[in-house]
Amino acid sequence: MILLLAFSLFAILSLNVLLWRWLKVSACKTQKFPPGPPRWPILGNLLQLGPLPHRDMARLCDKYGSLVYLRLGNVDAITTNDPDTIREILFRQDDVFSSRPKTLAAVHLAYGCGDVALAPMGPHWKRMRRICMEHLITTKRLESFTAQRAEESRYLIADVYKRAECGKLINLREVFGAFSMNNVTRMLLGKQFFGPGSAVAPKEAQEFMHITHKLFRLLGVIYLGDYLPFWRWVDPYGCEKEMKDVEKRVDKFHTKIIDEHRRAKREREDNTNNNNGEMDFVDVLLSLPGENGKEHMDDVEIKALIQDMIAAATDTSAVTNEWAMAEVIKQPREMLKIQEELDSIVGSKRMLMNLI
Ligand code: HEM
Repeated sequence: MILLLAFSLFAILSLNVLLWRWLKVSACKTQKFPPGPPRWPILGNLLQLGPLPHRDMARLCDKYGSLVYLRLGNVDAITTNDPDTIREILFRQDDVFSSRPKTLAAVHLAYGCGDVALAPMGPHWKRMRRICMEHLITTKRLESFTAQRAEESRYLIADVYKRAECGKLINLREVFGAFSMNNVTRMLLGKQFFGPGSAVAPKEAQEFMHITHKLFRLLGVIYLGDYLPFWRWVDPYGCEKEMKDVEKRVDKFHTKIIDEHRRAKREREDNTNNNNGEMDFVDVLLSLPGENGKEHMDDVEIKALIQDMIAAATDTSAVTNEWAMAEVIKQPREMLKIQEELDSIVGSKRMLMNLI
């Protein structure tokens, strides 16, 4: 009797598995994908993408049409070079496509996608974005930091001029990195890490910059473990290990920043005469209510926002400036024209101020 029961149970289970597989296969057969290149089992089209995948994708669009289907390991992907399709994706179907993939880097380096840049489209992303738009990226706040930005520009020019006079080599990546990091940390944290006004030891500033560059680089890496789960078990280049290490080191910085701000807030409250200083972004975040009726925002949300803003503002601006300088250096005639125009219109003794 028991044997019969066990056999019937086994038969029912096997039938279920078979039926489920059959349904899955027929669903796949009925799904219509855009055309694409032939793919390998398991790897799919991964081998067709090289170190410059955007060029490979453009080539595939030339060959297979304006909308191409690619299977990247176990991830479905499409690529297009058609402006109408791009408009459809970015405007009309924005809700479907606007979430970024939850990559391992995003999980490790953006507090489990709890930030604004990498959070999936939804109420959390909307709330975090609203906090940034209302309290940081406002015309009023940008205007109130004009003097600080001008000070940073003056320092940059004086520093480059002094080093150039002595014939020293100038590493523009470093100079622009320090400039943009100072500008953003003055707004966010109320202090700068580089130059004469630096509030921290040079070693700590270098470590902060180094870790910010590393974080940004890792966020942009195409990590095979995101497409091939078995790759994660091997992690041959120690990429995930590096992500976890950066995650820990960055979090240490953020914890220190929050602790410093809490301490300063307590001191301000104890000393009632000294209660009217300008609040930086972290002060504002510490004063905001949290989600679902909580009295305060969680530390992890505050850390995620600080990290986003520092990473988003430092490397992007520094690299854009570096790229512009490299382009000018490559075009000596254009450089001469720019110098002549600046000399004749601004003059050599006057500082060009940016207006917002
Ligand atoms: C030259 C400088 C910059 C460049 C080239 C740049 C470029 C970009 C790009 C391409 C995106 C993705 C947009 C998208 O996919 O929808 C982005 C998003 C973002 N950027 Fe920038 N950015 C720069 C400066 C900054 C600065 C100074 C800040 C902050 C102070 C900032 C904060 C952000 C944030 C928070 C996001 C995510 C927005 C969201 O998901 O809603 N960026 N940036």
